[in-house]
Amino acid sequence: MMKCLYAPTLLIAASLGLSSAQAPPNASINATGTSFLDHDSLVSPYWGQSWLKDNIPFIDIPDRVIQDVYYYRFTALMRHLYYTTQGTGYIITEFIQPVGYAQAFGSIDAAAGHQIEEAQWLRDSSYAHDYIQLYTRGPGNSSQYTQWILEAAASTANITGDFGFLQSQLPGMLRMWHEWDYTFDSNVGLYYFTPVWDAQEYALPGYVATNGTHNLLEHDGPDTYRPSHNAYMVANARAIASTASMMGNETLAAEYSGYAQSIEEAMFRHLWEPTKQFFMDAIRPDNMNESVMPLQGREEVGFYPFRFGIGLESNYSSPAMESLFDEDGFLTTYGPTTLEQRNEYYTERKPPFGCCFWQGQSWPFSTAHTLKALAEVVRSRASSRITVAQYYQYLSIYAKTQHKNGVPYVAEEHSPVEDFWTQDAFNHSEHYAHSTYTNNVISDLLGFRARADNMVEVRPLIPANWTYFALENVPYHGHLVTVLYDQSGLGLQIFCDGQRIYAGNGTTAMAKLPNNARTSSYTDPAPIPPKVNIAANPLGGQGTVFASATYSSEGDSPYKAIDGVLFYDHEPDNRWSNYMQPGEKNASLTIQLPRKHNLTGVVLDIYVDANRDPPGAIACPISIEIADYRYPGNAPVAYIFDFLPQCIPNDKNVIMFDDVWETDAIAINFERQRDYYVGVAEVQLWVPANTGPFYYAVDALPMQSTNLTYDAASTATSTGSVLAPYDNSSVIAFSGVYSPHGGEYVMSVGFRNNGSEAVSMGVEINQMGAGNVTLQAGSGYETVDLSSQLWRGTNFVTLYGGGDGVYVEGLTFQS
Ligand SMILES: *[C@@H]1O[C@H](CO)[C@@H](O)[C@H](O)[C@H]1NC(C)=O
Ligand SMILES: *[C@@H]1O[C@H](CO)[C@@H](O)[C@H](O)[C@H]1NC(C)=O
Ligand SMILES: *[C@@H]1O[C@H](CO)[C@@H](O)[C@H](O)[C@H]1NC(C)=O
Ligand SMILES: *[C@@H]1O[C@H](CO)[C@@H](O)[C@H](O)[C@H]1NC(C)=O
Ligand SMILES: *[C@@H]1O[C@H](CO)[C@@H](O)[C@H](O)[C@H]1NC(C)=O
Ligand SMILES: *[C@@H]1O[C@H](CO)[C@@H](O)[C@H](O)[C@H]1NC(C)=O
Ligand SMILES: *[C@@H]1O[C@H](CO)[C@@H](O)[C@H](O)[C@H]1NC(C)=O
Ligand SMILES: *[C@@H]1O[C@H](CO)[C@@H](O)[C@H](O)[C@H]1NC(C)=O
Ligand SMILES: *[C@@H]1O[C@H](CO)[C@@H](O)[C@H](O)[C@H]1NC(C)=O
Ligand SMILES: *[C@@H]1O[C@H](CO)[C@@H](O)[C@H](O)[C@H]1NC(C)=O
Ligand SMILES: *[C@@H]1O[C@H](CO)[C@@H](O)[C@H](O)[C@H]1NC(C)=O
Ligand SMILES: *[C@@H]1O[C@H](CO)[C@@H](O)[C@H](O)[C@H]1NC(C)=O
Repeated sequence: MMKCLYAPTLLIAASLGLSSAQAPPNASINATGTSFLDHDSLVSPYWGQSWLKDNIPFIDIPDRVIQDVYYYRFTALMRHLYYTTQGTGYIITEFIQPVGYAQAFGSIDAAAGHQIEEAQWLRDSSYAHDYIQLYTRGPGNSSQYTQWILEAAASTANITGDFGFLQSQLPGMLRMWHEWDYTFDSNVGLYYFTPVWDAQEYALPGYVATNGTHNLLEHDGPDTYRPSHNAYMVANARAIASTASMMGNETLAAEYSGYAQSIEEAMFRHLWEPTKQFFMDAIRPDNMNESVMPLQGREEVGFYPFRFGIGLESNYSSPAMESLFDEDGFLTTYGPTTLEQRNEYYTERKPPFGCCFWQGQSWPFSTAHTLKALAEVVRSRASSRITVAQYYQYLSIYAKTQHKNGVPYVAEEHSPVEDFWTQDAFNHSEHYAHSTYTNNVISDLLGFRARADNMVEVRPLIPANWTYFALENVPYHGHLVTVLYDQSGLGLQIFCDGQRIYAGNGTTAMAKLPNNARTSSYTDPAPIPPKVNIAANPLGGQGTVFASATYSSEGDSPYKAIDGVLFYDHEPDNRWSNYMQPGEKNASLTIQLPRKHNLTGVVLDIYVDANRDPPGAIACPISIEIADYRYPGNAPVAYIFDFLPQCIPNDKNVIMFDDVWETDAIAINFERQRDYYVGVAEVQLWVPANTGPFYYAVDALPMQSTNLTYDAASTATSTGSVLAPYDNSSVIAFSGVYSPHGGEYVMSVGFRNNGSEAVSMGVEINQMGAGNVTLQAGSGYETVDLSSQLWRGTNFVTLYGGGDGVYVEGLTFQS
């Protein structure tokens, strides 16, 4: 409500601190962990500390390099958590600035498996779940690049214990699987694809096919049966099979286990090179009567199958893994190399043209897979020739590689022999999210083996001389689990929500979780979706939320405060600021919403660079006032007169209102310190998710040929805001349509067709055709119904088409 009783000069006691207005880091787990480690000091080198403290498992290990990179990598992941829009939620980007070939919201499926495997360890499961759903239900393109998203989704479920979420993705998982049918060669029993769309430009098949003549084929590569892509398909099939099996659908489980088995057999038949004893690429013959011949050069993709459990027997795994330690093979100071060094096409130095070379350069994408493969082989004990010490050797190389100027850093590709990143473009490659690292540390080095049952399994791969390690507050099946090892003290201890559940000697353990550990199933109602951030606008000027400011520094546009991307770096620029604003002591940032909401507070992510080296001129504001910008005479809803002592620079600042404020027009007014300016990395407005039955059109995304407009004839919102899909190419994307159990619904489209003829609209639900509706011409608002099927949880509903004079108010779903 408006606090009109107060004169603006009076103080209104707005409260600061953690509250219900913040992003819900506790949506997934409502538990208190342990605090053996000093969390504040461990995150002290980084910005965004409250997010880190609320989300990451903490570690304390005897290896400073591995540990420092661990905390850094979680901050790097944070930069790529991109809040798109209510309903769709978070996705994980590869590049902070979207690239031209990226798909929906700048997503790229190539490294989605890696990205999910990192995000699965965050306490708030929304990060992994939202991103999985972008592919299983939403507009994510899972057939642009090869990927192992389904395997990563199954892995996430073993950590969250939320098997209901996984099982409710099954129809989308089946759709994703079949998207690859067209590249399956049934004669050979394998999938083929060009290496460039297996995420690997300038790979060996391209060099072999062109013999170094530098044409496009060298860059893209020919159609190739690859151990990488085929291993991903095996893993994805097994993820479908295990999900189906949990749901009691043994027929489906057997079908997909069968696919996995036959692909795996074809890999041994066609890709295992018996003299080199390695999984090789095989170029697809032009003449299908020619037999498939594996190449003779070892590439790092030949390690990937082992991480998915393919070839763990010693006769395969031993010779393959030994090549990692061969100085003419893959072993270098900053390796492994992506192509063995003895190969004629191996190039130590990156060629002077182009960006990305997989002919020897060291790629974190591949190193992450290879480390997983090495860990599987060591853990399986199939090969007595490969040891824990060798695992540690490579993890150490990987940690050492991830540095720049002496501090932890990750870019795209690294020289295999020198201490520099060979692809590290300004405003492009920074903190590249194309690999895992924290997942390797948690699940392999420290051996936290997430499982489907209620057991905590610890089997670390630590060096023999480590006398201690700590892994604190791992989110696991709805609990926070801590593992402490102290060889000379109490041995190995495991805690669950602060209670000790295990003590023993040795470094391995199995401990049972309390009986209330989460094992949600498909038949349980889907949890109510977490709060949504209604300020985020992924479409820029085309969206429905607008930001403006009284003054903006060049490059620091107001839109950057609602772009859904949150980090506090100087470069890339991701903030609004009034840097160099002449004269004025005050600055105002305004946000216009497409309809009114009941707000309880605002989250301000305040950017400050005055305390950096070299110092900038953006500092915390002296005071903050929040008011309705249309009524400048009215009292503010919050006024923090003395903000400075409470300001948390480069972090989340939560400003609560005393009372609920119903508004669509927010002004955030700052009083700046003398000689300093103010900056905001992001403004977040968190409100409970709409769970229907009515979904406002203006909460959906006007993706194409659709305008936000105000039509006095509409009563859906108090201002008459609706969307106008104005021609037959129009697209309106609803998301977050909630169903507790899934099932049959009647969908009613609320519309007005003021044009002269009826308009047909196509409907897709979760990327599957759901039929058409006809919007008859007429003068007022009416509804047209379509019987439809929703899936358990949140659904994506897209309307295609429109016409002159067509307005859409919203959708109603009645079961
Ligand atoms: C969290 O748990 C506490 C204690 O069990 C309970 O009182 C509280 O309501 C829970 N909060 C949420 C958001 O579930
Ligand atoms: C969320 O979790 C943090 C620590 O993980 C805790 O300090 C805070 O009180 C929790 N907030 C709510 C609203 O439960
Ligand atoms: C995915 O991307 C590929 C390559 O750009 C494109 O051919 C295909 O149509 C896209 N699929 C979807 C469903 O968008
Ligand atoms: C590739 O080119 C090199 C040098 O141009 C030549 O010596 C070699 O025979 C060629 N190899 C093949 C397989 O064509
Ligand atoms: C198993 O799954 C398939 C594919 O979704 C479905 O057609 C079939 O009805 C399911 N069978 C059972 C017993 O649920
Ligand atoms: C493949 O072999 C079959 C049977 O030997 C023959 O009929 C066919 O012409 C061959 N195809 C090509 C492309 O050579
Ligand atoms: C989940 O855990 C089970 C053991 O309970 C294991 O067999 C399975 O491989 C795990 N799944 C993934 C994808 O890690
Ligand atoms: C373990 O041994 C290695 C090799 O001697 C040494 O570099 C390292 O510092 C030792 N680590 C600990 C924790 O003692
Ligand atoms: C661990 O070993 C020590 C020394 O043998 C013994 O005193 C202690 O009881 C053992 N602890 C546990 C939990 O088994
Ligand atoms: C705000 O809350 C009031 C009181 O519950 C309610 O009448 C009103 O409709 C709400 N406004 C919006 C926009 O939801
Ligand atoms: C939609 O909005 C755009 C941008 O404001 C405007 O250029 C265009 O004319 C509008 N189209 C229709 C059909 O109203
Ligand atoms: C359904 O709507 C789409 C989008 O407007 C249109 O292209 C298609 O022709 C319609 N189909 C039918 C059967 O009317």
